[in-house]
Amino acid sequence: MISIIVAVSEDLGIGNKNELLWHISEDLKRFKRLTYGKTVIMGKRTWESLPRKPLTGRKNVVITDIPHESFSDAIAAYSIEDALGKCKKEEEIFIIGGGSIYNQFIPLADRLYITHVHKKSPADVFFPKIDPKIWEVVEKEEFAVNEGSPVPYTYIIYERVRKIPNRRSE
Ligand SMILES: NC(=O)c1ccc[n+]([C@@H]2O[C@H](COP(=O)([O-])OP(=O)(O)OC[C@H]3O[C@@H](n4cnc5c(N)ncnc54)[C@H](OP(=O)(O)O)[C@@H]3O)[C@@H](O)[C@H]2O)c1
Repeated sequence: MISIIVAVSEDLGIGNKNELLWHISEDLKRFKRLTYGKTVIMGKRTWESLPRKPLTGRKNVVITDIPHESFSDAIAAYSIEDALGKCKKEEEIFIIGGGSIYNQFIPLADRLYITHVHKKSPADVFFPKIDPKIWEVVEKEEFAVNEGSPVPYTYIIYERVRKIPNRRSE
């Protein structure tokens, strides 16, 4: 199971100058709860942007194009296939960014955990379009501004639409 987890703005912005666009403590707690004990896969720029490395209690896999590059307390992977090969097949793997990694993993993903922030912010990295023909909503919850979030948002879980095989007429 490959899951993507991300927070996006109204125009699908996800980051600016290698930083997140907002600090939503409630969402960061959800991120930790969902990913704890699991494997997280990220691109090198996202790894570099983490205030504390590695993400504790999780197997951190960092993808880079630079041969033999290594990371302290994280596993280096040198391609998408290499990253997947370093995960146990049966577990839920979380793809945690950034933009280039989301773009490459979305065709492979089974599930998307998306925090849709109801705000636009200047961004230089974007999430790809979520095609409703491919992704169906399986869970949806609205959140107003509160002490855990300075912005309103909708949290949605999408799953890949399962194709129902055509029944042949007998
Ligand atoms: N809103 C959110 O939920 C969220 C979550 C995560 C990140 N972000 C934001 O996203 C932004 C970073 O995204 P980004 O697209 O600039 O960077 P990124 O995807 O985090 O990392 C890009 C780097 O990953 C490596 N890479 C990517 N694809 C590869 C492949 N197929 N094979 C080998 N290496 C590969 C390359 O590293 P080398 O240069 O070493 O080769 C590349 O430069 C930041 O602003 C961050 O804050 C937002």
